[in-house]
Amino acid sequence: MIIEGIELFGGQLTEKLKIRGGVSLKGEVSIGGAKNAVLKLMAAALLAKGESKIYNVPELTDVQIMLRVIEGLGVKTKYDKVNKTVAIEATDITSITAKYELVSKMRASFIVLGALVSRCKEAIVALPGGCAIGERRVDFHIKGLEALGAKIKIENGYVHAKATKLHGADIYLDIPSVGATENLMLAAVMAEGATRIQNAAQEPEIVDLANFLNTMGADVSGAGTSEIVINGVKQEDLHPIEYATIPDRIEAGTYMAAFITTRGKGIIKNVMPSHLTFFNSKLIKMGANIKLLEPSVIEVSCKQRLSAVNIVTQPYPGFPTDLQSLAMAMLTTADGVSIITESLYENRFMQVPELRRMGADIHQERNHALVRGVKKLTGANLKASDLRAGASLIIAALMADGVSEIESLHHIDRGYENFEEKFRNIGADIVRYNDDIVEPKLLQEGKYNEASI
Ligand code: EPU
Repeated sequence: MIIEGIELFGGQLTEKLKIRGGVSLKGEVSIGGAKNAVLKLMAAALLAKGESKIYNVPELTDVQIMLRVIEGLGVKTKYDKVNKTVAIEATDITSITAKYELVSKMRASFIVLGALVSRCKEAIVALPGGCAIGERRVDFHIKGLEALGAKIKIENGYVHAKATKLHGADIYLDIPSVGATENLMLAAVMAEGATRIQNAAQEPEIVDLANFLNTMGADVSGAGTSEIVINGVKQEDLHPIEYATIPDRIEAGTYMAAFITTRGKGIIKNVMPSHLTFFNSKLIKMGANIKLLEPSVIEVSCKQRLSAVNIVTQPYPGFPTDLQSLAMAMLTTADGVSIITESLYENRFMQVPELRRMGADIHQERNHALVRGVKKLTGANLKASDLRAGASLIIAALMADGVSEIESLHHIDRGYENFEEKFRNIGADIVRYNDDIVEPKLLQEGKYNEASI
């Protein structure tokens, strides 16, 4: 698939998903590497001269975009689909510019700013702008870089950061921003002296980045707490490494939601249960059973109608905003009234109008949604507006009576690897199709599994 010159792993823009709901899902799913960790590790690989290898890299559109951003810096990259490995050969960086055409497609690529400032003492990176779920400013990233000694100019939609020398600083973040914490960690790796990031984000992806950097020769401590200290090292202290990223907690949460909400039973492998503590506690309150079988294997099941719960999204270790839309889909048919408060983004209820089209009873007022559980949802034509809203529509379609068709799958392909096959393997009646290719009769007859696509 090609979007404006970028070849992507995912399918065609015209592709749709057809789901016949009402099947209790059963079986096993294995979780891939964490998208939101791996994208940052790829940027971190730019700090050391030589070839670093990252394992457990999911085959996602966002990974592909990040590879293009890094290649744009004159750095060689290779993605090995079979072994799910990315190699980044960063001996030479020949460009310090990340263009708008790429950064606007995936705001996480803004992370190369910190890496370039660290390694080259200069970077020109497009400002990503807002996106479907909110304004998503980058002011903390910029202020933090200035505190480290970089001079910043914003010109023609680009951030131009330049420093003759970076020095350690005490930086306090107004909000524990994931991206700002990561950008500043990277920028501080080779700054002279100690940098202290206070009110730092505590997400597992931050800990993964710190572990990656320390394996490379950096000196980062406190990751996973609200204060991270980075003692500057020299370029020659850093060496290329091989590193396997953590499992994707949001992908794991998505399959947990699917098993539970269809009143099924499933085993989820390659998951870190400690990364999902808050989410799990809400699922248990809803009535789900969660059993730890092995340190990285859990079993989830549910036999009865779910119960309503209230949810407030918060930075880690609070309830993850990336699972809010999925929890909402689950609660649409729960017994009782749930109140969901989204406290991280201004506009992360994009799934609401679509869920209403399936019969959900949701009243939304700014960042609060009141969900009155109905007996059942019914299948409908649906459109994914962003990644997690799209995932919530899959969950809703799996629960619903009848057939749903979901379009704009490119959003979902950004963050879920091979998802229709994974869902099919646990019994879902789901097919990705393109009107031009698939015999419509096959779809009408519900012979999705035999469809030759
Ligand atoms: N914020 C500012 N100024 C800043 C930075 C952030 O006002 O300089 C605000 C944002 O506007 C937002 C809030 O702070 O309202 C939190 O933003 P944060 O910086 O923590 O988020 P992010 O780094 O842009 C990452 C994930 C998101 C996830 C959030 C929160 C990646 C690539 N993205 O975004 O994941 O929702 O943290 O956990 O790591 C997703 O995977 O679907 C996704 C959106």
